[in-house]
Amino acid sequence: MAHALDRHVALVGFMGAGKSTLGAEIAERLGRRLVDLDRELERAAGRALAEIFEERGEVEFRVLEAEATIGALEHERPAVLALGGGAVETPRIRRALAEHALTVYVDVDPDTAWGRVRGSGRPLARDEAMFRALYDRRQEHYREVADTTAASADDVVLAAAGVVAEAGALDRLPELIGSRHAELVADATVLGLHRPPVEALTHSLRSGEEAKSLGAIERLWRELRLDRAGVLVAFGGGCTTDAAGFAAATFLRGVPWIAVPTTLVGQVDAGIGGKTAINLAEGKNLVGAFHWPEWTLIDPALLETLPEAERRAGMAEVVKTGLLAGEPIWELPDAELVRRCAVYKAAVCLRDPDERGEREILNLGHTFAHALEAAGGYENVSHGEAVALGLLAALRLSGLDTEAVEQTLAPQPVRVDRDAAWAALARDKKARDGKPRLVLLEALGKPVRGVELPEEHVRSALDELIAD
Ligand SMILES: NC(=O)c1ccc[n+]([C@@H]2O[C@H](COP(=O)([O-])OP(=O)(O)OC[C@H]3O[C@@H](n4cnc5c(N)ncnc54)[C@H](O)[C@@H]3O)[C@@H](O)[C@H]2O)c1
Repeated sequence: MAHALDRHVALVGFMGAGKSTLGAEIAERLGRRLVDLDRELERAAGRALAEIFEERGEVEFRVLEAEATIGALEHERPAVLALGGGAVETPRIRRALAEHALTVYVDVDPDTAWGRVRGSGRPLARDEAMFRALYDRRQEHYREVADTTAASADDVVLAAAGVVAEAGALDRLPELIGSRHAELVADATVLGLHRPPVEALTHSLRSGEEAKSLGAIERLWRELRLDRAGVLVAFGGGCTTDAAGFAAATFLRGVPWIAVPTTLVGQVDAGIGGKTAINLAEGKNLVGAFHWPEWTLIDPALLETLPEAERRAGMAEVVKTGLLAGEPIWELPDAELVRRCAVYKAAVCLRDPDERGEREILNLGHTFAHALEAAGGYENVSHGEAVALGLLAALRLSGLDTEAVEQTLAPQPVRVDRDAAWAALARDKKARDGKPRLVLLEALGKPVRGVELPEEHVRSALDELIAD
């Protein structure tokens, strides 16, 4: 399993690497508790680590450490664990890590580590030569247990979500598939533009929303030759990853899948977080499942062939993410922009994988957008245009400056029927008793959800988005 949705995230590394500090930051980002094992041991023994070491000796200390560490690893509720520097030397801790955790190596060079811990009174940091020898000896164990190496909380968030967002991400695919049987589900247009990411039995899907139909899914169900030990790879935009992900969620009651999003919408939004769906005549995304991809491989080079209109659609989601995060992400070059958005969405989804609460903030601007799209019969108003306008309304109702949206997305009012748009907004699935509940911003970077405003305010914000 690649991601850490149901597993602990365990940080290993030498003393002075900063595991406790990083652990606290990651715990907050993932909405989990931090178990700092050295502190737990001190609390249980009622004395400092150095005293435990002196009184009981290292051998007995390692036994206590193994009990506490394995106890924490076997605890069901996924947490963030900061392990003691020497814990990896105990074989049964290494085995428990492999079974229960996504293990992250927090690297530090020996000079920095020594600079941080010398004179700290730590029992194994009193003599520099001994300290350096220990550093060398433990390296092989850190590398053996680590699923990944991380330098920042962002790195760990991506690893926890199974997201690789960097140039050349696709090169990782063969290694991630390993010896498993893989099949590819790909957008036919994308197959004409890019080399398939894996040589495998390929099922092509029509571009766009046609892929998200029951007919297309039935064809996939019948064509797939996978068993549950196999893996499905989805290669295309949000329509492809939604449809292929849904096929993976349902085929044989669920097979693993890897998302390789090729549009900006797919890379910053649809390919992350495990929501999959198809459309019915009655509405979009009405049938679906939560089925987290084992991996999401995001290679910004794939965006080079993207038509301008599709890029604009993606930028609307980028601006949304920037407003939620309180950072002008939209000003970044592609590679960084895609990574920042992925980090933000991954963290929100890891905190609320089943969309029971906080994840709703990702709908910023979307209540208005859906209303405009519906009023335009899903033909006259593109999703990107609608989201840009929706963001404008959300900022206005939040009493915030709309410049970022105006400058980056330049949305223009659309020609749709006002009453139809209002009816659609009241019908929105977030509405309670016909009163829309909105996601707004208290300030940039501070979203609030479930806001109910007087009807006339919401209606006039909607009206402003519509041309006469
Ligand atoms: N699951 C989620 O969390 C989530 C989030 C956001 C959106 N979505 C869904 O995603 C869908 C929209 O996704 P989309 O905007 O990526 O649309 P899309 O998948 O239809 O792709 C848009 C167009 O771009 C083409 N294309 C794809 N990659 C290309 C490339 N690299 N170069 C050139 N052309 C390329 C496609 O063939 C298509 O014509 C919607 O159905 C929406 O509901 C899902």
